[in-house]
Amino acid sequence: MSYNIGYFVGSLASNSINRVVSKALIALAPENLSFTEIQIGNLPLYSADYDADYPEAGTALKKAIEASDGLLFISPEFNRSIPGALKNAIDWGSRPWGTNSFARKPTGLLGASPGAIGTAVMQSSMRSVLSFLDAPQLNSPEVYLQYRPEDFGEDGSISNPDTEKFLAHYIGEYAAFVERVLDSTAAGHIGDEGM
Ligand SMILES: Cc1cc2nc3c(=O)[nH]c(=O)nc-3n(C[C@H](O)[C@H](O)[C@H](O)COP(=O)(O)O)c2cc1C
Repeated sequence: MSYNIGYFVGSLASNSINRVVSKALIALAPENLSFTEIQIGNLPLYSADYDADYPEAGTALKKAIEASDGLLFISPEFNRSIPGALKNAIDWGSRPWGTNSFARKPTGLLGASPGAIGTAVMQSSMRSVLSFLDAPQLNSPEVYLQYRPEDFGEDGSISNPDTEKFLAHYIGEYAAFVERVLDSTAAGHIGDEGM
């Protein structure tokens, strides 16, 4: 089976290290995954005032999430939490009430930082958010990447074989996870609230 993965880069910076990591991951992914970036930089700040008449940017975001078989978040940590632009996009995708676009989407989460903690605290916050949004998460392996510029080319090429192996393992496990969740959903094991 082939799966279309929508991915979020949680940084708006033109020289984002997390964007470099997203390119590296895509290059290492199994052939049955294709990737579409879900843009977050064009969204206004979410307000419930928009719910009655969702603007085009919000509707397009929801459609992109819903069209994805699985979702990947590759994000920095800002002040020990989720960058505002990414959290804003998640808020848009979760609303209007009763139309949460993230529900039952298999998700993967990783991030890179120059610091040794490697976005661990952001990821912990994100896991709470994704749980609340009813989005199944790949729990293991985890990727807390301390970014070393010498390991990556801007095109996402990787010169450190250990880093390459680590990220290839992650994206392979993510592909298997997407398949498991979607198979299970199709078989009726998830979402049978009436049982
Ligand atoms: C507003 C702000 C807050 C930051 N807070 C953290 C932090 O809490 N933890 C961390 O490891 N790095 C933090 N950093 C440093 C980022 O990890 C670093 O700038 C990184 O390159 C951002 O990812 P990006 O290049 O993909 O945008 C922060 C940077 C900014 C601009």
